[in-house]
Amino acid sequence: MSVVPNINLNDGNFIPQLGFGVFQIDPRETAEAVTEALRVGYRHIDTAEMYGNEREVGEGIRASGLDRGDVFITSKLNNRYHEPEDARRAFDETLSALGYDYVDLFLIHWPLPTLYDGDFVSTWKTMEEFKGDGRARSIGVSNFQIEHLERLAAETDTVPAVNQIEVHPYFTNDAVRAYGQEHGIATEAWSPIAQGGVLDAPTITGIADKVGKTPAQVVLRWHVQRGDIVFPKSVTPSRMQENFDIFDFELTSTDMEEISDLHQDEDGRTGPHPDTFDKVPS
Ligand SMILES: NC(=O)c1ccc[n+]([C@@H]2O[C@H](COP(=O)([O-])OP(=O)(O)OC[C@H]3O[C@@H](n4cnc5c(N)ncnc54)[C@H](OP(=O)(O)O)[C@@H]3O)[C@@H](O)[C@H]2O)c1
Repeated sequence: MSVVPNINLNDGNFIPQLGFGVFQIDPRETAEAVTEALRVGYRHIDTAEMYGNEREVGEGIRASGLDRGDVFITSKLNNRYHEPEDARRAFDETLSALGYDYVDLFLIHWPLPTLYDGDFVSTWKTMEEFKGDGRARSIGVSNFQIEHLERLAAETDTVPAVNQIEVHPYFTNDAVRAYGQEHGIATEAWSPIAQGGVLDAPTITGIADKVGKTPAQVVLRWHVQRGDIVFPKSVTPSRMQENFDIFDFELTSTDMEEISDLHQDEDGRTGPHPDTFDKVPS
Protein backbone atom coordinates (compact mmCIF):
# COMPACT_ATOMS: atom_id res chain seq x y z
CA MET A 1 0.00 0.00 0.00
CA SER A 2 1.19 3.50 -0.86
CA VAL A 3 2.22 5.94 1.86
CA VAL A 4 0.45 8.69 -0.10
CA PRO A 5 -3.05 9.42 1.24
CA ASN A 6 -6.00 9.61 -1.14
CA ILE A 7 -8.29 12.63 -1.22
CA ASN A 8 -11.97 11.94 -1.89
CA LEU A 9 -13.49 13.94 -4.72
CA ASN A 10 -17.12 15.14 -4.81
CA ASP A 11 -18.03 12.63 -7.55
CA GLY A 12 -17.03 9.53 -5.56
CA ASN A 13 -13.58 9.17 -7.14
CA PHE A 14 -10.33 9.73 -5.29
CA ILE A 15 -6.93 11.20 -6.12
CA PRO A 16 -3.48 10.60 -4.57
CA GLN A 17 -2.64 13.74 -2.57
CA LEU A 18 0.94 13.81 -3.87
CA GLY A 19 1.70 13.59 -7.58
CA PHE A 20 4.35 14.52 -10.11
CA GLY A 21 4.05 17.63 -12.33
CA VAL A 22 5.58 17.79 -15.79
CA PHE A 23 5.23 21.51 -16.69
CA GLN A 24 8.39 22.74 -18.46
CA ILE A 25 9.87 19.25 -18.80
CA ASP A 26 11.28 18.97 -22.30
CA PRO A 27 9.35 16.33 -24.26
CA ARG A 28 12.68 14.58 -24.90
CA GLU A 29 13.18 14.15 -21.14
CA THR A 30 9.58 13.53 -20.12
CA ALA A 31 9.20 9.77 -20.62
CA GLU A 32 12.35 9.07 -18.59
CA ALA A 33 11.33 11.52 -15.84
CA VAL A 34 7.86 9.96 -15.58
CA THR A 35 9.25 6.42 -15.44
CA GLU A 36 11.69 7.48 -12.72
CA ALA A 37 8.92 9.21 -10.73
CA LEU A 38 6.81 6.04 -10.92
CA ARG A 39 9.81 4.01 -9.76
CA VAL A 40 10.14 6.31 -6.74
CA GLY A 41 6.48 5.65 -5.93
CA TYR A 42 4.43 8.52 -7.43
CA ARG A 43 1.12 7.28 -8.86
CA HIS A 44 -0.34 10.58 -10.07
CA ILE A 45 0.94 12.58 -13.05
CA ASP A 46 -0.18 16.14 -13.84
CA THR A 47 0.23 17.18 -17.48
CA ALA A 48 -1.58 19.48 -19.95
CA GLU A 49 -2.02 19.80 -23.67
CA MET A 50 -0.18 23.13 -23.49
CA TYR A 51 2.89 21.44 -21.90
CA GLY A 52 3.49 19.62 -25.20
CA ASN A 53 4.45 16.36 -23.50
CA GLU A 54 1.26 14.27 -23.16
CA ARG A 55 2.56 11.68 -25.63
CA GLU A 56 5.75 11.23 -23.62
CA VAL A 57 3.79 10.97 -20.35
CA GLY A 58 1.95 7.99 -21.87
CA GLU A 59 5.24 6.48 -23.04
CA GLY A 60 6.77 6.91 -19.58
CA ILE A 61 3.84 5.18 -17.91
CA ARG A 62 3.92 2.27 -20.36
CA ALA A 63 7.70 1.92 -19.89
CA SER A 64 7.18 1.59 -16.13
CA GLY A 65 5.30 -1.67 -16.57
CA LEU A 66 2.50 -0.45 -14.30
CA ASP A 67 -1.12 -1.03 -15.27
CA ARG A 68 -3.08 1.96 -16.54
CA GLY A 69 -5.38 1.68 -13.53
CA ASP A 70 -2.47 2.11 -11.12
CA VAL A 71 -1.70 5.66 -12.25
CA PHE A 72 -3.91 8.73 -11.88
CA ILE A 73 -3.53 10.95 -14.97
CA THR A 74 -4.64 14.58 -15.21
CA SER A 75 -4.56 16.66 -18.36
CA LYS A 76 -5.97 20.07 -19.29
CA LEU A 77 -7.71 21.79 -22.17
CA ASN A 78 -5.60 24.10 -24.34
CA ASN A 79 -6.62 27.78 -24.05
CA ARG A 80 -7.12 27.80 -27.80
CA TYR A 81 -9.94 25.28 -27.72
CA HIS A 82 -12.68 26.66 -25.47
CA GLU A 83 -15.37 26.58 -28.19
CA PRO A 84 -17.36 23.33 -27.72
CA GLU A 85 -16.46 21.79 -31.12
CA ASP A 86 -12.78 22.60 -30.60
CA ALA A 87 -12.87 21.26 -27.03
CA ARG A 88 -14.31 17.96 -28.23
CA ARG A 89 -11.58 17.59 -30.84
CA ALA A 90 -8.86 18.65 -28.38
CA PHE A 91 -10.03 16.09 -25.83
CA ASP A 92 -9.93 13.32 -28.47
CA GLU A 93 -6.39 14.41 -29.27
CA THR A 94 -5.34 14.40 -25.61
CA LEU A 95 -6.50 10.80 -25.29
CA SER A 96 -4.80 9.74 -28.48
CA ALA A 97 -1.53 11.50 -27.50
CA LEU A 98 -1.54 9.79 -24.11
CA GLY A 99 -2.43 6.51 -25.80
CA TYR A 100 -5.26 5.72 -23.38
CA ASP A 101 -9.04 5.68 -23.67
CA TYR A 102 -9.67 7.75 -20.55
CA VAL A 103 -8.08 10.29 -18.23
CA ASP A 104 -8.72 10.32 -14.52
CA LEU A 105 -9.16 14.08 -14.46
CA PHE A 106 -9.57 16.69 -17.19
CA LEU A 107 -9.44 20.42 -16.40
CA ILE A 108 -10.22 23.72 -18.09
CA HIS A 109 -6.68 25.12 -17.84
CA TRP A 110 -7.63 28.84 -17.53
CA PRO A 111 -11.01 30.61 -17.34
CA LEU A 112 -10.01 33.30 -19.90
CA PRO A 113 -12.82 35.66 -18.83
CA THR A 114 -11.71 38.32 -21.33
CA LEU A 115 -11.90 35.94 -24.30
CA TYR A 116 -14.70 33.92 -25.92
CA ASP A 117 -17.21 36.57 -24.71
CA GLY A 118 -16.35 35.43 -21.18
CA ASP A 119 -18.19 32.18 -21.92
CA PHE A 120 -16.36 29.47 -20.00
CA VAL A 121 -19.81 28.09 -19.12
CA SER A 122 -20.37 26.41 -22.50
CA THR A 123 -16.81 25.06 -22.25
CA TRP A 124 -17.74 23.56 -18.87
CA LYS A 125 -20.94 22.05 -20.33
CA THR A 126 -18.77 20.39 -22.97
CA MET A 127 -16.53 19.01 -20.22
CA GLU A 128 -19.69 17.51 -18.68
CA GLU A 129 -20.07 15.43 -21.87
CA PHE A 130 -16.59 13.92 -21.33
CA LYS A 131 -17.55 12.99 -17.78
CA GLY A 132 -20.89 11.65 -19.02
CA ASP A 133 -19.33 9.30 -21.57
CA GLY A 134 -16.73 8.08 -19.04
CA ARG A 135 -13.67 9.25 -20.95
CA ALA A 136 -12.90 11.72 -18.15
CA ARG A 137 -13.51 9.98 -14.84
CA SER A 138 -13.59 13.40 -13.13
CA ILE A 139 -13.68 16.95 -14.45
CA GLY A 140 -12.46 20.14 -12.87
CA VAL A 141 -11.07 23.60 -13.46
CA SER A 142 -7.83 25.46 -13.00
CA ASN A 143 -7.14 29.07 -12.12
CA PHE A 144 -10.82 29.76 -11.44
CA GLN A 145 -11.60 32.65 -9.12
CA ILE A 146 -14.60 32.67 -6.77
CA GLU A 147 -16.79 34.60 -9.23
CA HIS A 148 -16.00 32.07 -11.97
CA LEU A 149 -16.97 29.19 -9.68
CA GLU A 150 -20.16 30.99 -8.69
CA ARG A 151 -21.14 31.27 -12.34
CA LEU A 152 -20.66 27.54 -12.88
CA ALA A 153 -22.76 26.88 -9.77
CA ALA A 154 -25.57 29.12 -11.03
CA GLU A 155 -25.58 27.99 -14.66
CA THR A 156 -24.55 24.32 -14.75
CA ASP A 157 -25.30 21.01 -13.03
CA THR A 158 -21.80 19.83 -12.13
CA VAL A 159 -19.61 21.15 -9.33
CA PRO A 160 -15.95 20.89 -10.41
CA ALA A 161 -14.15 18.06 -8.61
CA VAL A 162 -11.02 20.21 -8.22
CA ASN A 163 -9.74 23.73 -8.75
CA GLN A 164 -6.01 23.79 -9.52
CA ILE A 165 -4.62 27.18 -8.43
CA GLU A 166 -1.35 28.85 -7.51
CA VAL A 167 -0.64 28.18 -3.82
CA HIS A 168 2.64 28.34 -1.89
CA PRO A 169 3.83 30.11 1.27
CA TYR A 170 4.26 33.47 -0.49
CA PHE A 171 0.75 33.24 -2.00
CA THR A 172 -1.61 31.21 0.17
CA ASN A 173 -4.73 31.94 -1.96
CA ASP A 174 -6.91 31.29 1.08
CA ALA A 175 -10.17 32.89 -0.12
CA VAL A 176 -10.37 30.66 -3.20
CA ARG A 177 -9.35 27.63 -1.10
CA ALA A 178 -12.07 28.43 1.45
CA TYR A 179 -14.72 28.69 -1.28
CA GLY A 180 -13.62 25.27 -2.51
CA GLN A 181 -13.78 23.79 0.97
CA GLU A 182 -17.32 25.10 1.49
CA HIS A 183 -18.51 23.76 -1.85
CA GLY A 184 -16.79 20.36 -2.02
CA ILE A 185 -14.15 21.42 -4.55
CA ALA A 186 -10.70 19.98 -3.72
CA THR A 187 -7.81 22.44 -4.05
CA GLU A 188 -4.76 21.48 -6.06
CA ALA A 189 -1.76 23.73 -5.34
CA TRP A 190 0.35 24.50 -8.40
CA SER A 191 3.98 25.65 -8.14
CA PRO A 192 3.89 24.33 -4.55
CA ILE A 193 7.49 25.38 -3.84
CA ALA A 194 7.14 28.52 -6.03
CA GLN A 195 9.55 26.91 -8.50
CA GLY A 196 12.17 26.87 -5.72
CA GLY A 197 11.59 30.53 -4.81
CA VAL A 198 10.47 29.91 -1.22
CA LEU A 199 13.17 27.47 -0.24
CA ASP A 200 15.65 29.97 1.17
CA ALA A 201 13.17 31.88 3.35
CA PRO A 202 14.69 31.89 6.88
CA THR A 203 11.37 30.72 8.38
CA ILE A 204 11.46 27.65 6.14
CA THR A 205 15.16 26.88 6.56
CA GLY A 206 14.81 27.33 10.34
CA ILE A 207 11.95 24.83 10.57
CA ALA A 208 13.80 22.46 8.22
CA ASP A 209 16.84 22.48 10.54
CA LYS A 210 14.61 21.91 13.57
CA VAL A 211 12.74 18.91 12.13
CA GLY A 212 15.73 17.44 10.26
CA LYS A 213 14.12 17.72 6.82
CA THR A 214 14.91 19.80 3.72
CA PRO A 215 13.17 23.13 2.95
CA ALA A 216 11.28 21.52 0.04
CA GLN A 217 10.03 18.71 2.31
CA VAL A 218 8.84 21.26 4.89
CA VAL A 219 6.92 23.29 2.31
CA LEU A 220 5.33 20.21 0.72
CA ARG A 221 4.38 18.91 4.17
CA TRP A 222 2.75 22.30 4.93
CA HIS A 223 0.56 21.85 1.83
CA VAL A 224 -0.34 18.29 2.76
CA GLN A 225 -1.32 19.27 6.31
CA ARG A 226 -3.51 22.05 4.86
CA GLY A 227 -5.31 19.30 2.93
CA ASP A 228 -4.31 20.41 -0.57
CA ILE A 229 -3.17 18.18 -3.43
CA VAL A 230 0.39 18.83 -4.72
CA PHE A 231 2.54 17.67 -7.63
CA PRO A 232 6.04 19.16 -7.46
CA LYS A 233 8.03 19.02 -10.69
CA SER A 234 11.64 17.86 -10.84
CA VAL A 235 13.83 16.29 -13.47
CA THR A 236 16.38 15.44 -10.77
CA PRO A 237 15.95 11.88 -9.41
CA SER A 238 17.29 12.75 -5.92
CA ARG A 239 14.75 15.59 -5.66
CA MET A 240 11.93 13.34 -6.87
CA GLN A 241 12.77 11.05 -3.95
CA GLU A 242 13.18 13.97 -1.53
CA ASN A 243 9.80 15.42 -2.50
CA PHE A 244 8.17 12.01 -2.02
CA ASP A 245 9.54 11.51 1.52
CA ILE A 246 7.13 13.80 3.38
CA PHE A 247 4.91 11.35 5.21
CA ASP A 248 7.19 10.47 8.13
CA PHE A 249 7.09 13.76 10.05
CA GLU A 250 4.62 16.39 11.17
CA LEU A 251 4.71 20.17 11.48
CA THR A 252 3.33 21.73 14.67
CA SER A 253 0.50 24.24 14.50
CA THR A 254 3.07 26.97 15.25
CA ASP A 255 5.23 25.83 12.32
CA MET A 256 2.14 25.83 10.11
CA GLU A 257 1.17 29.36 11.15
CA GLU A 258 4.69 30.73 10.71
CA ILE A 259 4.83 29.37 7.16
CA SER A 260 1.36 30.72 6.33
CA ASP A 261 2.46 34.12 7.65
CA LEU A 262 4.97 34.36 4.79
CA HIS A 263 2.00 35.25 2.54
CA GLN A 264 2.61 38.49 0.62
CA ASP A 265 -0.83 39.10 -0.91
CA GLU A 266 -0.67 39.86 -4.64
CA ASP A 267 3.09 40.54 -4.41
CA GLY A 268 3.58 36.84 -3.75
CA ARG A 269 1.82 35.71 -6.92
CA THR A 270 4.35 34.30 -9.42
CA GLY A 271 2.03 33.40 -12.29
CA PRO A 272 -0.44 35.47 -14.32
CA HIS A 273 -3.65 36.80 -12.78
CA PRO A 274 -6.62 34.63 -13.77
CA ASP A 275 -8.89 37.66 -14.25
CA THR A 276 -6.72 39.07 -17.02
CA PHE A 277 -4.68 36.16 -18.38
CA ASP A 278 -5.50 35.76 -22.07
CA LYS A 279 -2.60 33.88 -23.63
CA VAL A 280 -3.66 31.57 -26.41
CA PRO A 281 -0.99 29.44 -28.12
CA SER A 282 -0.64 30.15 -31.83
N1 LIG B 1 -2.63 24.88 -13.84
C1 LIG B 1 -1.68 25.74 -14.03
O1 LIG B 1 -1.88 26.83 -14.57
C2 LIG B 1 -0.28 25.38 -13.58
C3 LIG B 1 0.72 26.36 -13.55
C4 LIG B 1 2.00 25.98 -13.11
C5 LIG B 1 2.23 24.67 -12.70
N2 LIG B 1 1.22 23.73 -12.75
C6 LIG B 1 1.44 22.33 -12.32
O2 LIG B 1 2.12 22.32 -11.07
C7 LIG B 1 3.32 21.55 -11.19
C8 LIG B 1 4.38 22.06 -10.25
O3 LIG B 1 4.63 23.44 -10.46
P1 LIG B 1 5.96 24.04 -11.13
O4 LIG B 1 6.53 23.01 -12.03
O5 LIG B 1 5.60 25.35 -11.71
O6 LIG B 1 6.89 24.36 -9.92
P2 LIG B 1 7.38 23.66 -8.56
O7 LIG B 1 7.00 22.23 -8.52
O8 LIG B 1 6.96 24.57 -7.44
O9 LIG B 1 8.96 23.80 -8.69
C9 LIG B 1 9.71 23.15 -9.70
C10 LIG B 1 11.16 23.71 -9.67
O10 LIG B 1 11.73 23.46 -8.39
C11 LIG B 1 12.90 22.65 -8.53
N3 LIG B 1 12.84 21.65 -7.46
C12 LIG B 1 12.00 20.59 -7.38
N4 LIG B 1 12.21 19.92 -6.23
C13 LIG B 1 13.19 20.56 -5.58
C14 LIG B 1 13.85 20.32 -4.35
N5 LIG B 1 13.52 19.29 -3.57
N6 LIG B 1 14.82 21.19 -3.97
C15 LIG B 1 15.15 22.25 -4.74
N7 LIG B 1 14.56 22.52 -5.92
C16 LIG B 1 13.59 21.67 -6.34
C17 LIG B 1 12.82 22.02 -9.92
O11 LIG B 1 14.12 21.85 -10.46
P3 LIG B 1 14.63 20.53 -11.28
O12 LIG B 1 13.50 20.07 -12.17
O13 LIG B 1 15.79 21.09 -12.06
O14 LIG B 1 15.03 19.50 -10.27
C18 LIG B 1 12.07 23.08 -10.70
O15 LIG B 1 12.94 24.10 -11.14
C19 LIG B 1 3.68 21.71 -12.69
O16 LIG B 1 4.65 20.78 -13.11
C20 LIG B 1 2.32 21.54 -13.31
O17 LIG B 1 1.95 20.19 -13.32
C21 LIG B 1 -0.02 24.08 -13.18
